[in-house]
Amino acid sequence: MNIRPRRNRKNVAIREMVQESRLGLENLIFPVFLKDGANIKEEIPSLPNIYRWSIDLLLKEIEGCMELGIRIYDIFPAVEDHLKDQTATMSYDPSNFYLKAIQKIKETFPELVLMSDVALDPYSSDGHDGLLRNGKIVNDDTLPILAKMAVAQAQAGIDIIGPSDMMDGRVGVIRSALDEAGYTDTSIMSYTAKYASAFYGPFRDALNSAPKSGDKKTYQMNTANKSEALIEAKLDVEEGADMIMVKPALCYLDVIHVLKENFATPVTAYNVSGEYAMVHAAAQKGWVDYNAAMNEMLLSIRRAGADGILTYFAKDFAQSLVE
Ligand code: PBG
Repeated sequence: MNIRPRRNRKNVAIREMVQESRLGLENLIFPVFLKDGANIKEEIPSLPNIYRWSIDLLLKEIEGCMELGIRIYDIFPAVEDHLKDQTATMSYDPSNFYLKAIQKIKETFPELVLMSDVALDPYSSDGHDGLLRNGKIVNDDTLPILAKMAVAQAQAGIDIIGPSDMMDGRVGVIRSALDEAGYTDTSIMSYTAKYASAFYGPFRDALNSAPKSGDKKTYQMNTANKSEALIEAKLDVEEGADMIMVKPALCYLDVIHVLKENFATPVTAYNVSGEYAMVHAAAQKGWVDYNAAMNEMLLSIRRAGADGILTYFAKDFAQSLVE
């Protein structure tokens, strides 16, 4: 044998030199949950070690994470049911606790990068991402609400808007609304290929945002489809997306790969709540090693072609680097 691939695996130094994909804190975005009030750190049973924080404690949590080297955060509001309505009015009310918290976070940590979802579901009494009318999610009447929400978030200081609703035409409408309001520097990371997945369960527990009727299959993508992701990506890029996201990550590594191969626009992936919760559950039973499974998952998402990864593992990964 004159070719023995094992020679390139014979020790750590050689293995690391020829390693093809790498993972660093610069690749990670940490999703955090905010609740109105003070002194709140609330457990989310299906999302171990992730909490609903009130702003005072969230600032401390972020400070600790910044010291660990996490620079980009995605913040989600857990809204009380009695404040939700059919048109998600609260989402763009400048006095709401979420927008005030965004302002506070950006004032306290000007160097931090903050991202936020734009979709109706956390504020909607129907639990859908778009407007529900006569049992149907209406596309075009949802768009002005998304635009108002995006402008309100930009005004509060959000750096990256994440349209996550999968309505057609939303990126273009949000881009023009932001530009008209003077927020030409606010980025858009579009949830480009967002699938109607079974892996969002713990997230919906965290926000109590599960749909009250039906499912999300008329707007989120069919899990069987890949070519359709190319249609979505082409539209989002043409409409002005700065980054295109695939969500979830693990069952869709082929989709991450095909977008990376076909677009020059940076590609990100959302390693979602159910993917994180599964590792916790299996590790708790002693069936997998937590840190090894985490590293393998995150590295596989990078290998598939993702530049950035939104992941609940961000803090554990950061901690594993200092241990
Ligand atoms: C809502 C939204 C969801 C997630 C992010 N934004 C859930 C959904 O579409 O029902 C899921 C994130 C996760 O599971 O970690 N627009």
